Amino acid sequence: MHVHKRCRNPVMSAQNVHIENEGFVSLRHDTTLLDECLRAGIPMVHACGAKARCSTCRVVLLHGELPPRNELEQKLAEKLNWSDDIRLSCQLRAEHAGRVTVRRVVKDQLDRELLHQSNSARERNVAILFSDIRSFTSFSERHLPHDIVHILNRYFVEMGDAIHQSRGRIDKYMGDGIMAIFGLDGDGHPAKLAYDAARDMLSRLQGFNKYLEATYREHFEIGIGIHYGSVVVGDIGHPKSASFTAIGDAVNIAARIESATKGVAPLLVSESVRDAIGGTGWPSIEMHLKGKSKPMVLHIPPPVDASSG
Ligand code: FES
Repeated sequence: MHVHKRCRNPVMSAQNVHIENEGFVSLRHDTTLLDECLRAGIPMVHACGAKARCSTCRVVLLHGELPPRNELEQKLAEKLNWSDDIRLSCQLRAEHAGRVTVRRVVKDQLDRELLHQSNSARERNVAILFSDIRSFTSFSERHLPHDIVHILNRYFVEMGDAIHQSRGRIDKYMGDGIMAIFGLDGDGHPAKLAYDAARDMLSRLQGFNKYLEATYREHFEIGIGIHYGSVVVGDIGHPKSASFTAIGDAVNIAARIESATKGVAPLLVSESVRDAIGGTGWPSIEMHLKGKSKPMVLHIPPPVDASSG
């Protein structure tokens, strides 16, 4: 990529951009290539809303010269190891006259149909909670399917009430597992809301176990993992059955933390959760979570019985 001197009078700059097989747009210093394409009816996908946080709006430079990348674009290009000819249309503004030809990359019929769905996704800082019933497979082997459904539904009412009370959103049920998102709306730190919900879940479990012991001579133990971080939320899935969910590394980490509770503690939280809550003197352990190259420090909050007095 050639580096050019900046134009002395950018107001006058306009670059004629040929979008291969799709048309021409005139690029100025005060609009981006993405803006101009959309204005011209060229359906450029822009999943992150022009924040240099995705690669859906990228184009390949086929001919001519474009101005150097700005800081945001450069950061993404380095992260994704892009060659100089791959550019983000949402960051491109004209700095000098001239003609270039580019090719859109994310552009087939299905990409166009998904334009609205992809563009509705938003980046949010949320707390993700995963919970799971220990030894549920062997429990299932000892009971009749209809009994299991009834017991699970009763369990989900208790756990769901705890989650809703902290304004959490149950994202999905995975067999006996629950994934919930906190911090999508309302006040309060998402990590604190998730933590309060987790403690309420463990407290309600004690009452639920009395019922389970009386009716089925059984007893549930559960594990809960919480992580706080950045995710992308939005409608994901086939357009006919898409559902709202969260995607991102923070979700994977929360799931791994829940798995790590086995044999350690009923509730484990990440450093970001502990810091947000301001927990002090909590025992911590360093664990290698599956799929993570570096070990993570996890914290064990005080037991529910001891703290609730
Ligand atoms: S729209 Fe996401 S980087 Fe351009």
